[in-house]
Amino acid sequence: MTDYKTNSLLPQFPHSYWLEHDVPRYPTLTEDMKTEVGVIGGGIIGILTAYLLAKAGKQVTLIEARELLSGVTGNTTAKVTAQTSMIYNELISTFGEEKARLYYEANTEGMHSIEQIAKELSIDCDWETKDASIYASTAKGFKQLEKESRAYETLAIDGVLTNGQVNELPFKTTGALTMPDQAQFHPVKFLAPLLNEIERLGGSIYERTRAIKVCKGKMRVHLENGFSLDCDKVVVATHYPFNDFQGLYFSKLSIERSYSLVATTDAPLVNGMYISAESPSRSLRSVRNDKGEDFLLIGGDSHQTGKSSEPNQEHYQNLEDFGKRYFAIKDIPYHWSAQDMTTLDKVPYVGQMIRSTPNILLATGFNKWGMAMGATAAKVLTDNVLNKSNAYADLFDPLRNKLKAKDVQQFTWKNTSVGKDLVVTKAKRPTMTPDDLEPDQGGLVSVDGKKVGGYRDASGHVHLVKTTCTHMGCGLNWNDAERSWDCPCHGSRFTYAGEVIDGPAVKPLEKLDNSCACKHQH
Ligand SMILES: Cc1cc2nc3c(=O)[nH]c(=O)nc-3n(C[C@H](O)[C@H](O)[C@H](O)COP(=O)(O)OP(=O)(O)OC[C@H]3O[C@@H](n4cnc5c(N)ncnc54)[C@H](O)[C@@H]3O)c2cc1C
Ligand code: FES
Repeated sequence: MTDYKTNSLLPQFPHSYWLEHDVPRYPTLTEDMKTEVGVIGGGIIGILTAYLLAKAGKQVTLIEARELLSGVTGNTTAKVTAQTSMIYNELISTFGEEKARLYYEANTEGMHSIEQIAKELSIDCDWETKDASIYASTAKGFKQLEKESRAYETLAIDGVLTNGQVNELPFKTTGALTMPDQAQFHPVKFLAPLLNEIERLGGSIYERTRAIKVCKGKMRVHLENGFSLDCDKVVVATHYPFNDFQGLYFSKLSIERSYSLVATTDAPLVNGMYISAESPSRSLRSVRNDKGEDFLLIGGDSHQTGKSSEPNQEHYQNLEDFGKRYFAIKDIPYHWSAQDMTTLDKVPYVGQMIRSTPNILLATGFNKWGMAMGATAAKVLTDNVLNKSNAYADLFDPLRNKLKAKDVQQFTWKNTSVGKDLVVTKAKRPTMTPDDLEPDQGGLVSVDGKKVGGYRDASGHVHLVKTTCTHMGCGLNWNDAERSWDCPCHGSRFTYAGEVIDGPAVKPLEKLDNSCACKHQH
Protein backbone atom coordinates (compact mmCIF):
# COMPACT_ATOMS: atom_id res chain seq x y z
CA MET A 1 0.00 0.00 0.00
CA THR A 2 1.29 3.48 -0.79
CA ASP A 3 2.72 4.85 2.42
CA TYR A 4 1.17 8.34 2.64
CA LYS A 5 2.29 10.48 5.53
CA THR A 6 -0.62 10.62 7.93
CA ASN A 7 -0.59 14.43 7.91
CA SER A 8 -0.27 14.70 4.12
CA LEU A 9 -2.75 16.93 2.29
CA LEU A 10 -2.26 15.03 -0.98
CA PRO A 11 -5.31 13.27 -2.44
CA GLN A 12 -4.78 9.54 -3.04
CA PHE A 13 -4.78 9.76 -6.85
CA PRO A 14 -3.22 12.48 -9.01
CA HIS A 15 -5.40 14.65 -11.24
CA SER A 16 -4.49 17.77 -13.22
CA TYR A 17 -6.27 21.05 -12.51
CA TRP A 18 -6.26 21.88 -16.26
CA LEU A 19 -8.11 18.67 -17.11
CA GLU A 20 -11.09 19.70 -14.99
CA HIS A 21 -12.07 21.80 -17.99
CA ASP A 22 -14.30 20.10 -20.61
CA VAL A 23 -12.67 18.87 -23.81
CA PRO A 24 -14.93 17.81 -26.72
CA ARG A 25 -14.79 14.05 -27.36
CA TYR A 26 -14.28 12.43 -30.77
CA PRO A 27 -14.70 8.93 -32.24
CA THR A 28 -12.04 6.35 -33.08
CA LEU A 29 -11.01 6.08 -36.74
CA THR A 30 -12.40 2.72 -37.83
CA GLU A 31 -11.84 2.73 -41.59
CA ASP A 32 -9.02 3.37 -44.04
CA MET A 33 -8.84 7.04 -44.87
CA LYS A 34 -7.01 9.51 -47.10
CA THR A 35 -6.13 13.06 -46.14
CA GLU A 36 -3.78 15.81 -47.28
CA VAL A 37 -2.03 16.23 -43.95
CA GLY A 38 -2.15 13.69 -41.13
CA VAL A 39 -1.35 15.31 -37.78
CA ILE A 40 -0.53 12.72 -35.14
CA GLY A 41 -0.87 13.75 -31.49
CA GLY A 42 -3.46 15.92 -29.77
CA GLY A 43 -1.37 18.22 -27.55
CA ILE A 44 -0.59 21.90 -28.05
CA ILE A 45 1.60 21.25 -31.07
CA GLY A 46 -0.73 18.85 -32.89
CA ILE A 47 -3.84 20.95 -32.24
CA LEU A 48 -2.25 24.28 -33.18
CA THR A 49 -0.67 22.79 -36.32
CA ALA A 50 -3.96 21.21 -37.39
CA TYR A 51 -5.74 24.51 -36.74
CA LEU A 52 -3.24 26.62 -38.72
CA LEU A 53 -3.25 24.15 -41.62
CA ALA A 54 -7.05 23.93 -41.71
CA LYS A 55 -7.19 27.73 -41.65
CA ALA A 56 -4.78 27.80 -44.62
CA GLY A 57 -7.18 25.57 -46.56
CA LYS A 58 -5.47 22.20 -46.12
CA GLN A 59 -7.48 19.04 -45.60
CA VAL A 60 -6.32 17.91 -42.16
CA THR A 61 -6.91 14.81 -40.07
CA LEU A 62 -5.82 14.92 -36.43
CA ILE A 63 -5.47 11.61 -34.59
CA GLU A 64 -4.82 11.07 -30.89
CA ALA A 65 -3.83 7.77 -29.23
CA ARG A 66 -5.64 8.41 -25.96
CA GLU A 67 -7.77 11.48 -25.20
CA LEU A 68 -7.03 14.89 -26.67
CA LEU A 69 -4.95 17.03 -24.31
CA SER A 70 -4.36 14.17 -21.89
CA GLY A 71 -0.59 14.32 -22.59
CA VAL A 72 1.93 16.81 -21.27
CA THR A 73 -0.14 19.80 -22.43
CA GLY A 74 -2.90 18.84 -19.99
CA ASN A 75 -0.31 18.41 -17.24
CA THR A 76 1.94 21.42 -17.75
CA THR A 77 2.56 24.54 -15.65
CA ALA A 78 1.40 26.82 -18.51
CA LYS A 79 3.79 29.72 -18.23
CA VAL A 80 4.07 31.38 -21.63
CA THR A 81 7.48 32.94 -21.72
CA ALA A 82 10.77 33.44 -23.51
CA GLN A 83 12.50 32.98 -20.14
CA THR A 84 13.02 29.27 -20.58
CA SER A 85 15.12 28.85 -17.42
CA MET A 86 18.80 29.68 -17.70
CA ILE A 87 19.51 29.16 -21.42
CA TYR A 88 20.77 32.26 -23.21
CA ASN A 89 24.37 32.21 -21.99
CA GLU A 90 24.59 28.57 -23.05
CA LEU A 91 22.93 29.23 -26.41
CA ILE A 92 25.46 31.95 -27.20
CA SER A 93 28.29 29.48 -26.70
CA THR A 94 26.56 26.63 -28.60
CA PHE A 95 24.94 28.54 -31.45
CA GLY A 96 26.39 32.06 -31.45
CA GLU A 97 24.65 35.36 -30.79
CA GLU A 98 22.50 35.49 -33.89
CA LYS A 99 20.80 32.15 -33.28
CA ALA A 100 20.53 32.74 -29.53
CA ARG A 101 18.65 35.96 -30.30
CA LEU A 102 16.49 34.07 -32.83
CA TYR A 103 15.56 31.58 -30.10
CA TYR A 104 14.36 34.49 -27.94
CA GLU A 105 12.37 35.89 -30.86
CA ALA A 106 10.84 32.47 -31.59
CA ASN A 107 9.57 32.27 -28.01
CA THR A 108 8.34 35.85 -27.97
CA GLU A 109 6.54 35.40 -31.28
CA GLY A 110 4.97 32.16 -29.99
CA MET A 111 3.72 33.96 -26.90
CA HIS A 112 2.15 36.73 -29.01
CA SER A 113 0.60 34.27 -31.44
CA ILE A 114 -1.23 32.43 -28.60
CA GLU A 115 -2.56 35.77 -27.36
CA GLN A 116 -3.51 36.76 -30.90
CA ILE A 117 -5.40 33.52 -31.65
CA ALA A 118 -7.25 33.78 -28.34
CA LYS A 119 -8.26 37.36 -29.22
CA GLU A 120 -9.30 36.50 -32.77
CA LEU A 121 -11.51 33.65 -31.63
CA SER A 122 -12.67 35.34 -28.40
CA ILE A 123 -11.28 32.50 -26.29
CA ASP A 124 -11.19 33.23 -22.58
CA CYS A 125 -8.12 31.26 -21.51
CA ASP A 126 -7.31 33.09 -18.26
CA TRP A 127 -4.50 34.94 -20.05
CA GLU A 128 -2.57 37.19 -17.66
CA THR A 129 0.50 39.26 -18.39
CA LYS A 130 3.12 38.56 -15.71
CA ASP A 131 6.80 39.09 -15.08
CA ALA A 132 8.87 35.90 -15.21
CA SER A 133 11.83 35.54 -12.84
CA ILE A 134 14.61 33.10 -12.17
CA TYR A 135 15.52 33.42 -8.50
CA ALA A 136 18.71 32.30 -6.78
CA SER A 137 19.07 31.18 -3.18
CA THR A 138 22.86 30.88 -3.03
CA ALA A 139 25.89 32.97 -3.94
CA LYS A 140 26.74 30.45 -6.66
CA GLY A 141 23.22 30.67 -8.06
CA PHE A 142 23.45 34.46 -8.16
CA LYS A 143 26.73 34.23 -10.11
CA GLN A 144 24.88 32.18 -12.71
CA LEU A 145 22.17 34.84 -12.86
CA GLU A 146 24.84 37.47 -13.45
CA LYS A 147 26.19 35.48 -16.39
CA GLU A 148 22.70 35.01 -17.78
CA SER A 149 22.02 38.71 -17.31
CA ARG A 150 25.12 39.54 -19.36
CA ALA A 151 23.77 37.23 -22.07
CA TYR A 152 20.49 39.22 -21.97
CA GLU A 153 22.50 42.41 -22.49
CA THR A 154 24.45 40.90 -25.38
CA LEU A 155 21.24 39.76 -27.03
CA ALA A 156 19.31 42.97 -26.23
CA ILE A 157 16.77 41.00 -24.23
CA ASP A 158 14.70 43.09 -21.86
CA GLY A 159 15.62 41.93 -18.34
CA VAL A 160 16.35 43.24 -14.85
CA LEU A 161 18.87 41.72 -12.46
CA THR A 162 18.23 42.42 -8.78
CA ASN A 163 20.57 41.56 -5.95
CA GLY A 164 19.34 40.22 -2.60
CA GLN A 165 15.89 39.44 -1.31
CA VAL A 166 12.95 39.15 -3.72
CA ASN A 167 10.25 40.96 -1.76
CA GLU A 168 7.33 38.71 -2.49
CA LEU A 169 9.16 35.40 -1.90
CA PRO A 170 8.84 34.13 1.68
CA PHE A 171 12.25 32.44 1.77
CA LYS A 172 15.81 33.69 1.52
CA THR A 173 16.96 34.67 -1.96
CA THR A 174 20.26 36.10 -3.21
CA GLY A 175 18.73 37.73 -6.27
CA ALA A 176 16.58 37.36 -9.34
CA LEU A 177 16.65 37.91 -13.08
CA THR A 178 13.30 39.17 -14.33
CA MET A 179 11.91 39.24 -17.86
CA PRO A 180 8.92 41.60 -17.90
CA ASP A 181 5.63 41.19 -19.79
CA GLN A 182 5.49 37.44 -20.11
CA ALA A 183 2.25 35.50 -19.50
CA GLN A 184 0.44 32.61 -17.85
CA PHE A 185 -2.77 30.98 -19.08
CA HIS A 186 -5.03 27.93 -18.98
CA PRO A 187 -3.84 25.63 -21.80
CA VAL A 188 -6.99 23.51 -22.02
CA LYS A 189 -9.31 26.52 -22.07
CA PHE A 190 -7.21 27.84 -24.96
CA LEU A 191 -6.92 24.64 -26.99
CA ALA A 192 -10.33 22.96 -26.55
CA PRO A 193 -12.17 25.63 -28.64
CA LEU A 194 -9.60 25.16 -31.42
CA LEU A 195 -10.87 21.60 -31.87
CA ASN A 196 -14.29 22.98 -32.85
CA GLU A 197 -12.54 25.41 -35.20
CA ILE A 198 -10.57 22.62 -36.89
CA GLU A 199 -13.84 20.80 -37.55
CA ARG A 200 -15.59 23.97 -38.70
CA LEU A 201 -12.74 24.51 -41.20
CA GLY A 202 -13.28 21.02 -42.63
CA GLY A 203 -10.77 19.01 -40.60
CA SER A 204 -11.43 15.61 -39.02
CA ILE A 205 -10.46 14.56 -35.50
CA TYR A 206 -10.19 11.08 -33.99
CA GLU A 207 -9.33 9.93 -30.46
CA ARG A 208 -8.30 6.51 -29.15
CA THR A 209 -6.58 6.13 -32.53
CA ARG A 210 -2.95 5.17 -32.07
CA ALA A 211 -0.44 5.40 -34.91
CA ILE A 212 2.10 2.60 -34.79
CA LYS A 213 4.13 3.05 -37.96
CA VAL A 214 4.71 5.48 -40.82
CA CYS A 215 5.64 3.93 -44.17
CA LYS A 216 7.49 6.59 -46.06
CA GLY A 217 7.00 5.07 -49.56
CA LYS A 218 3.24 5.48 -49.71
CA MET A 219 3.11 7.93 -46.79
CA ARG A 220 0.80 5.58 -44.98
CA VAL A 221 0.22 5.85 -41.24
CA HIS A 222 -0.62 2.41 -39.83
CA LEU A 223 -2.98 2.39 -36.88
CA GLU A 224 -3.04 0.05 -33.90
CA ASN A 225 -6.53 -1.19 -34.89
CA GLY A 226 -5.36 -2.32 -38.35
CA PHE A 227 -6.73 0.63 -40.35
CA SER A 228 -4.54 3.20 -42.05
CA LEU A 229 -4.39 6.87 -42.90
CA ASP A 230 -2.81 7.80 -46.26
CA CYS A 231 -1.39 11.33 -46.36
CA ASP A 232 0.65 13.62 -48.57
CA LYS A 233 2.43 14.85 -45.44
CA VAL A 234 2.60 13.52 -41.90
CA VAL A 235 3.24 15.69 -38.83
CA VAL A 236 4.48 13.69 -35.85
CA ALA A 237 3.42 15.73 -32.80
CA THR A 238 3.30 12.81 -30.39
CA HIS A 239 5.65 14.38 -27.82
CA TYR A 240 8.23 11.55 -28.02
CA PRO A 241 8.23 10.52 -31.71
CA PHE A 242 6.65 7.04 -31.73
CA ASN A 243 8.52 6.30 -35.00
CA ASP A 244 11.83 7.18 -33.36
CA PHE A 245 13.77 4.48 -35.20
CA GLN A 246 13.37 6.72 -38.26
CA GLY A 247 16.22 9.12 -37.58
CA LEU A 248 17.42 7.36 -34.39
CA TYR A 249 15.74 9.98 -32.20
CA PHE A 250 15.92 7.72 -29.15
CA SER A 251 19.64 8.48 -29.05
CA LYS A 252 19.16 12.26 -29.24
CA LEU A 253 16.58 12.87 -26.51
CA SER A 254 16.83 12.74 -22.73
CA ILE A 255 13.68 12.79 -20.62
CA GLU A 256 12.73 14.11 -17.20
CA ARG A 257 9.61 13.81 -15.08
CA SER A 258 8.49 16.66 -12.89
CA TYR A 259 5.73 17.24 -10.32
CA SER A 260 3.06 19.89 -9.70
CA LEU A 261 0.44 20.67 -7.12
CA VAL A 262 -2.24 23.31 -6.78
CA ALA A 263 -2.87 24.42 -3.21
CA THR A 264 -5.02 26.81 -1.20
CA THR A 265 -3.44 29.17 1.28
CA ASP A 266 -4.31 32.27 3.30
CA ALA A 267 -0.74 33.51 2.79
CA PRO A 268 -0.15 36.08 0.02
CA LEU A 269 0.19 34.44 -3.41
CA VAL A 270 3.05 35.24 -5.74
CA ASN A 271 2.22 37.90 -8.28
CA GLY A 272 4.95 36.99 -10.76
CA MET A 273 6.01 33.62 -12.20
CA TYR A 274 9.13 32.13 -10.65
CA ILE A 275 11.61 29.35 -11.27
CA SER A 276 14.63 28.52 -9.15
CA ALA A 277 18.19 28.72 -10.41
CA GLU A 278 19.22 25.85 -8.17
CA SER A 279 18.16 22.21 -7.76
CA PRO A 280 15.87 20.76 -6.67
CA SER A 281 13.90 22.96 -9.04
CA ARG A 282 10.94 24.95 -7.76
CA SER A 283 8.43 26.65 -10.04
CA LEU A 284 5.71 29.01 -8.78
CA ARG A 285 2.69 30.74 -10.28
CA SER A 286 -0.83 31.61 -9.26
CA VAL A 287 -4.04 30.08 -10.64
CA ARG A 288 -7.54 31.61 -10.44
CA ASN A 289 -10.56 29.38 -10.99
CA ASP A 290 -13.92 30.34 -12.54
CA LYS A 291 -15.33 31.17 -9.09
CA GLY A 292 -12.54 33.73 -8.59
CA GLU A 293 -10.77 31.57 -5.99
CA ASP A 294 -6.98 31.84 -5.99
CA PHE A 295 -4.53 28.96 -5.71
CA LEU A 296 -0.77 28.57 -5.64
CA LEU A 297 0.81 26.23 -8.19
CA ILE A 298 4.09 24.71 -6.99
CA GLY A 299 6.13 22.62 -9.42
CA GLY A 300 9.51 20.92 -9.56
CA ASP A 301 11.49 18.00 -8.12
CA SER A 302 12.48 16.68 -11.56
CA HIS A 303 14.30 13.41 -12.16
CA GLN A 304 15.04 11.17 -15.11
CA THR A 305 11.86 9.27 -16.01
CA GLY A 306 11.83 5.74 -14.65
CA LYS A 307 14.79 6.48 -12.41
CA SER A 308 14.07 8.10 -9.08
CA SER A 309 16.35 7.80 -6.07
CA GLU A 310 13.27 7.81 -3.81
CA PRO A 311 9.71 6.49 -4.25
CA ASN A 312 7.94 8.78 -6.74
CA GLN A 313 5.32 9.80 -4.19
CA GLU A 314 8.12 11.45 -2.19
CA HIS A 315 8.51 14.06 -4.94
CA TYR A 316 4.93 15.24 -4.36
CA GLN A 317 5.63 15.13 -0.67
CA ASN A 318 8.70 17.36 -1.13
CA LEU A 319 6.55 19.96 -2.92
CA GLU A 320 3.93 19.72 -0.19
CA ASP A 321 6.58 20.21 2.52
CA PHE A 322 7.92 23.25 0.64
CA GLY A 323 4.38 24.68 0.35
CA LYS A 324 3.64 24.11 4.03
CA ARG A 325 6.94 25.59 5.13
CA TYR A 326 6.87 28.78 3.07
CA PHE A 327 3.25 29.37 2.05
CA ALA A 328 1.30 27.71 4.88
CA ILE A 329 -0.73 25.76 2.31
CA LYS A 330 -3.97 24.38 3.75
CA ASP A 331 -5.35 22.05 1.13
CA ILE A 332 -4.14 20.41 -2.11
CA PRO A 333 -7.11 19.83 -4.40
CA TYR A 334 -4.95 18.83 -7.40
CA HIS A 335 -1.59 17.25 -8.00
CA TRP A 336 -0.11 15.72 -11.14
CA SER A 337 3.17 14.98 -12.90
CA ALA A 338 4.45 14.96 -16.46
CA GLN A 339 7.62 14.59 -18.48
CA ASP A 340 9.39 16.41 -21.29
CA MET A 341 12.40 15.75 -23.47
CA THR A 342 15.57 17.70 -24.10
CA THR A 343 17.61 17.51 -27.28
CA LEU A 344 21.39 17.26 -27.42
CA ASP A 345 21.79 21.04 -27.74
CA LYS A 346 18.64 22.05 -25.78
CA VAL A 347 16.91 23.52 -28.86
CA PRO A 348 13.82 21.58 -30.04
CA TYR A 349 13.71 19.52 -33.21
CA VAL A 350 10.99 20.96 -35.45
CA GLY A 351 10.77 20.25 -39.17
CA GLN A 352 11.78 17.49 -41.57
CA MET A 353 12.32 14.34 -39.52
CA ILE A 354 14.53 12.21 -41.78
CA ARG A 355 16.77 13.01 -44.71
CA SER A 356 15.22 10.53 -47.13
CA THR A 357 11.79 12.21 -47.34
CA PRO A 358 10.54 15.77 -46.90
CA ASN A 359 7.06 14.45 -46.13
CA ILE A 360 7.47 13.38 -42.50
CA LEU A 361 7.74 16.31 -40.09
CA LEU A 362 8.13 16.31 -36.33
CA ALA A 363 8.26 18.58 -33.29
CA THR A 364 9.87 17.34 -30.10
CA GLY A 365 12.38 18.17 -27.35
CA PHE A 366 10.96 21.36 -25.78
CA ASN A 367 12.98 21.03 -22.58
CA LYS A 368 9.87 21.76 -20.45
CA TRP A 369 9.15 24.97 -22.41
CA GLY A 370 6.69 23.97 -25.11
CA MET A 371 3.91 26.55 -24.74
CA ALA A 372 5.30 29.68 -26.45
CA MET A 373 7.87 27.60 -28.36
CA GLY A 374 5.15 25.06 -29.23
CA ALA A 375 3.09 27.81 -30.86
CA THR A 376 6.08 28.82 -32.97
CA ALA A 377 6.77 25.16 -33.75
CA ALA A 378 3.21 24.82 -35.09
CA LYS A 379 3.87 27.79 -37.39
CA VAL A 380 7.21 26.32 -38.57
CA LEU A 381 5.47 23.01 -39.37
CA THR A 382 2.59 24.78 -41.12
CA ASP A 383 4.94 26.88 -43.24
CA ASN A 384 6.89 23.75 -44.15
CA VAL A 385 3.69 22.05 -45.39
CA LEU A 386 2.69 25.20 -47.28
CA ASN A 387 6.18 25.51 -48.81
CA LYS A 388 6.66 28.90 -47.20
CA SER A 389 9.91 30.10 -45.70
CA ASN A 390 10.07 30.55 -41.93
CA ALA A 391 12.68 32.56 -40.02
CA TYR A 392 13.06 29.81 -37.38
CA ALA A 393 13.20 26.75 -39.65
CA ASP A 394 17.02 26.58 -39.65
CA LEU A 395 17.36 27.05 -35.89
CA PHE A 396 14.94 24.20 -35.16
CA ASP A 397 15.98 21.97 -38.09
CA PRO A 398 15.98 18.38 -36.72
CA LEU A 399 18.66 17.48 -39.25
CA ARG A 400 21.11 20.14 -38.02
CA ASN A 401 22.90 17.27 -36.33
CA LYS A 402 26.25 19.00 -36.00
CA LEU A 403 27.39 16.98 -33.05
CA LYS A 404 30.15 18.67 -31.10
CA ALA A 405 32.63 16.81 -28.91
CA LYS A 406 30.56 17.65 -25.82
CA ASP A 407 27.39 16.35 -27.47
CA VAL A 408 29.10 13.14 -28.52
CA GLN A 409 30.30 12.64 -24.94
CA GLN A 410 26.74 13.14 -23.67
CA PHE A 411 25.43 10.84 -26.39
CA THR A 412 27.89 8.12 -25.34
CA TRP A 413 27.11 8.63 -21.67
CA LYS A 414 23.41 8.33 -22.36
CA ASN A 415 23.78 5.16 -24.31
CA THR A 416 26.05 3.64 -21.71
CA SER A 417 23.52 4.59 -19.07
CA VAL A 418 20.73 3.04 -21.14
CA GLY A 419 22.77 -0.15 -21.46
CA LYS A 420 23.17 -0.24 -17.68
CA ASP A 421 19.42 0.14 -17.17
CA LEU A 422 18.82 -2.72 -19.51
CA VAL A 423 21.05 -5.00 -17.49
CA VAL A 424 20.57 -3.74 -13.93
CA THR A 425 16.79 -3.55 -13.82
CA LYS A 426 16.55 -6.90 -15.53
CA ALA A 427 18.85 -8.53 -13.01
CA LYS A 428 16.94 -7.46 -9.87
CA ARG A 429 15.15 -10.34 -8.08
CA PRO A 430 11.91 -9.47 -6.26
CA THR A 431 11.30 -10.57 -2.70
CA MET A 432 7.47 -10.26 -2.80
CA THR A 433 4.85 -12.52 -4.31
CA PRO A 434 1.46 -11.27 -5.63
CA ASP A 435 -0.09 -12.51 -2.39
CA ASP A 436 1.97 -9.98 -0.43
CA LEU A 437 0.50 -7.01 -2.32
CA GLU A 438 -1.93 -4.85 -0.35
CA PRO A 439 -4.73 -2.91 -2.10
CA ASP A 440 -3.25 -0.01 -4.13
CA GLN A 441 0.24 -1.47 -3.90
CA GLY A 442 2.41 -2.40 -6.87
CA GLY A 443 5.92 -3.58 -7.61
CA LEU A 444 8.02 -6.43 -8.88
CA VAL A 445 6.79 -9.80 -7.64
CA SER A 446 7.93 -13.34 -8.07
CA VAL A 447 5.59 -15.83 -9.81
CA ASP A 448 6.85 -19.40 -10.34
CA GLY A 449 10.40 -18.11 -9.88
CA LYS A 450 9.89 -15.49 -12.58
CA LYS A 451 10.00 -11.74 -12.01
CA VAL A 452 6.80 -9.98 -13.11
CA GLY A 453 5.03 -6.70 -12.38
CA GLY A 454 2.02 -6.74 -10.07
CA TYR A 455 -0.53 -4.22 -8.81
CA ARG A 456 -3.49 -4.95 -6.53
CA ASP A 457 -6.35 -2.54 -7.23
CA ALA A 458 -8.87 -1.32 -4.64
CA SER A 459 -11.22 -4.23 -5.37
CA GLY A 460 -8.43 -6.71 -4.61
CA HIS A 461 -7.82 -7.74 -8.21
CA VAL A 462 -4.14 -8.25 -9.05
CA HIS A 463 -2.91 -7.09 -12.46
CA LEU A 464 0.19 -8.96 -13.57
CA VAL A 465 2.31 -7.81 -16.52
CA LYS A 466 5.66 -8.59 -18.04
CA THR A 467 7.94 -5.66 -17.16
CA THR A 468 9.99 -5.64 -20.33
CA CYS A 469 9.53 -2.38 -22.22
CA THR A 470 7.99 -2.98 -25.64
CA HIS A 471 10.13 -0.22 -27.17
CA MET A 472 13.64 -1.67 -26.92
CA GLY A 473 13.41 -4.15 -24.08
CA CYS A 474 14.63 -2.25 -21.00
CA GLY A 475 13.41 -3.32 -17.56
CA LEU A 476 10.57 -1.15 -16.19
CA ASN A 477 10.37 0.38 -12.73
CA TRP A 478 7.25 0.82 -10.60
CA ASN A 479 6.02 4.38 -10.13
CA ASP A 480 4.02 4.35 -6.90
CA ALA A 481 2.69 7.90 -7.38
CA GLU A 482 1.05 7.31 -10.76
CA ARG A 483 0.56 3.53 -10.44
CA SER A 484 2.47 3.03 -13.67
CA TRP A 485 5.41 1.08 -15.07
CA ASP A 486 8.08 3.56 -16.24
CA CYS A 487 11.04 2.94 -18.49
CA PRO A 488 14.41 4.46 -17.52
CA CYS A 489 15.76 4.16 -21.06
CA HIS A 490 13.59 6.48 -23.19
CA GLY A 491 10.66 7.27 -20.89
CA SER A 492 7.85 5.01 -22.14
CA ARG A 493 5.18 4.53 -19.48
CA PHE A 494 2.46 1.92 -19.09
CA THR A 495 -0.60 1.64 -16.85
CA TYR A 496 -0.60 -1.08 -14.18
CA ALA A 497 -2.72 -3.08 -16.62
CA GLY A 498 -0.06 -2.69 -19.31
CA GLU A 499 -1.57 -0.07 -21.67
CA VAL A 500 0.77 2.53 -23.17
CA ILE A 501 0.56 5.94 -21.47
CA ASP A 502 3.64 7.62 -22.92
CA GLY A 503 5.71 6.65 -25.96
CA PRO A 504 7.98 5.98 -27.73
CA ALA A 505 6.50 2.50 -27.07
CA VAL A 506 3.38 1.74 -29.12
CA LYS A 507 2.66 -1.81 -27.94
CA PRO A 508 1.08 -2.66 -24.58
CA LEU A 509 2.87 -4.85 -22.05
CA GLU A 510 2.17 -8.55 -22.12
CA LYS A 511 -0.54 -9.34 -19.55
CA LEU A 512 -0.03 -12.45 -17.45
CA ASP A 513 -2.48 -14.86 -15.88
CA ASN A 514 -3.24 -13.76 -12.31
CA SER A 515 -5.20 -16.78 -11.12
CA CYS A 516 -2.54 -17.33 -8.44
CA ALA A 517 -3.04 -13.93 -6.89
CA CYS A 518 -6.46 -13.55 -5.30
CA LYS A 519 -5.79 -13.34 -1.55
CA HIS A 520 -7.58 -10.03 -1.19
CA GLN A 521 -10.36 -10.64 -3.70
CA HIS A 522 -13.90 -10.44 -2.35
C1 LIG B 1 6.02 19.34 -15.44
C2 LIG B 1 6.09 20.17 -16.67
C3 LIG B 1 5.84 21.53 -16.60
C4 LIG B 1 5.90 22.29 -17.76
N1 LIG B 1 5.66 23.63 -17.67
C5 LIG B 1 5.75 24.40 -18.78
C6 LIG B 1 5.54 25.80 -18.72
O1 LIG B 1 5.24 26.36 -17.67
N2 LIG B 1 5.68 26.51 -19.85
C7 LIG B 1 6.03 25.94 -21.03
O2 LIG B 1 6.20 26.64 -22.03
N3 LIG B 1 6.19 24.60 -21.13
C8 LIG B 1 6.06 23.82 -20.04
N4 LIG B 1 6.25 22.48 -20.13
C9 LIG B 1 6.49 21.87 -21.44
C10 LIG B 1 5.21 21.75 -22.25
O3 LIG B 1 4.13 21.40 -21.41
C11 LIG B 1 5.41 20.65 -23.32
O4 LIG B 1 6.60 20.93 -24.02
C12 LIG B 1 4.26 20.64 -24.31
O5 LIG B 1 3.03 20.51 -23.62
C13 LIG B 1 4.44 19.47 -25.27
O6 LIG B 1 3.32 19.46 -26.12
P1 LIG B 1 3.17 18.30 -27.19
O7 LIG B 1 1.99 18.66 -28.03
O8 LIG B 1 4.47 18.08 -27.85
O9 LIG B 1 2.94 16.99 -26.33
P2 LIG B 1 1.62 16.38 -25.64
O10 LIG B 1 0.80 17.41 -25.01
O11 LIG B 1 2.09 15.26 -24.80
O12 LIG B 1 0.81 15.82 -26.87
C14 LIG B 1 1.21 14.67 -27.58
C15 LIG B 1 -0.02 13.81 -27.79
O13 LIG B 1 0.32 12.76 -28.69
C16 LIG B 1 -0.37 11.60 -28.29
N5 LIG B 1 0.32 10.43 -28.83
C17 LIG B 1 1.46 9.85 -28.37
N6 LIG B 1 1.79 8.78 -29.13
C18 LIG B 1 0.84 8.70 -30.10
C19 LIG B 1 0.64 7.81 -31.18
N7 LIG B 1 1.49 6.80 -31.42
N8 LIG B 1 -0.45 7.99 -31.98
C20 LIG B 1 -1.32 9.03 -31.75
N9 LIG B 1 -1.16 9.90 -30.73
C21 LIG B 1 -0.09 9.75 -29.92
C22 LIG B 1 -0.32 11.65 -26.77
O14 LIG B 1 -1.34 10.86 -26.19
C23 LIG B 1 -0.49 13.15 -26.51
O15 LIG B 1 -1.84 13.50 -26.28
C24 LIG B 1 6.21 21.69 -19.00
C25 LIG B 1 6.47 20.33 -19.06
C26 LIG B 1 6.42 19.57 -17.91
C27 LIG B 1 6.73 18.12 -18.00
S1 FES C 1 11.40 3.44 -23.77
FE1 FES C 1 12.99 2.63 -24.92
S2 FES C 1 13.35 0.71 -24.03
FE2 FES C 1 11.73 1.56 -22.88
